[in-house]
Amino acid sequence: MIVTIASQKGGVGKSTVSMNLALGVAGLSASYKVALIDADQQLSCLETLQNYKRANLSLYEGTKKPHRLVKSIVHKYKALFIDTPPHSHEIMYQAAAVSRLVIIPLQPSPLDIRGVGKTVQALKVIRDKVNPKLECRFLVNRVKPRTILANDFKVALNKHYSFPAFETMMHDREAYKQSLITGKSVLEFKKKSPAAEEMGKILIEVATVLRMKKMLRN
Ligand SMILES: Nc1ncnc2c1ncn2[C@@H]1O[C@H](COP(=O)(O)OP(=O)(O)O)[C@@H](O)[C@H]1O
Ligand SMILES: [Mg+2]
Repeated sequence: MIVTIASQKGGVGKSTVSMNLALGVAGLSASYKVALIDADQQLSCLETLQNYKRANLSLYEGTKKPHRLVKSIVHKYKALFIDTPPHSHEIMYQAAAVSRLVIIPLQPSPLDIRGVGKTVQALKVIRDKVNPKLECRFLVNRVKPRTILANDFKVALNKHYSFPAFETMMHDREAYKQSLITGKSVLEFKKKSPAAEEMGKILIEVATVLRMKKMLRN
């Protein structure tokens, strides 16, 4: 399975989501080989995780032609995640063209609904022209605890664009920052925390879209 995390907007949580999902799947079983391709020149994922290597998670730099890299390594992995840069339609195209799922993180603000328009348009073109099996899902991130606004936001999002949003939303939590300081996902950082609970649900939703729920039963 190949999953791209994309948005033309910076700071929405692409790298945070990429690392948590890659670490999350790798954490399910030592026999699952996972690759995380960092296609953003900022190399946030590589730099965050380089000192915390683990046997079943391989890190790759893929800032040029990530689709070619994917083709050359895909046979080795159960799951590949591609973290993409903001402001590069080209890299997003290349990554999405070889993916089964694109996750678009965004924050619950009207500005973010508008801001994601170009990303959505570009992904629709990729789906219609080169990758008809591509699924695209929004992931609402940095929701403040005790806000009801976020649910209204999901409704507004669905009205604007035809892509669905994941049921589970990520909240604004220190755990997303703290965990990565030591190269951990929120799932490993504190097993019974609210952050771990929501990331666990997101993993289930991702596996459901990819029809890979068996993967979670290990
Ligand atoms: N759910 C969250 N809770 C708290 N901080 C978050 C959350 N998601 C992202 N962040 C923080 O927001 C900033 C931008 O996130 P990042 O993943 O780097 O976004 P992007 O890759 O889209 O630029 C980082 O400092 C990250 O730690
Ligand atoms: Mg990033």
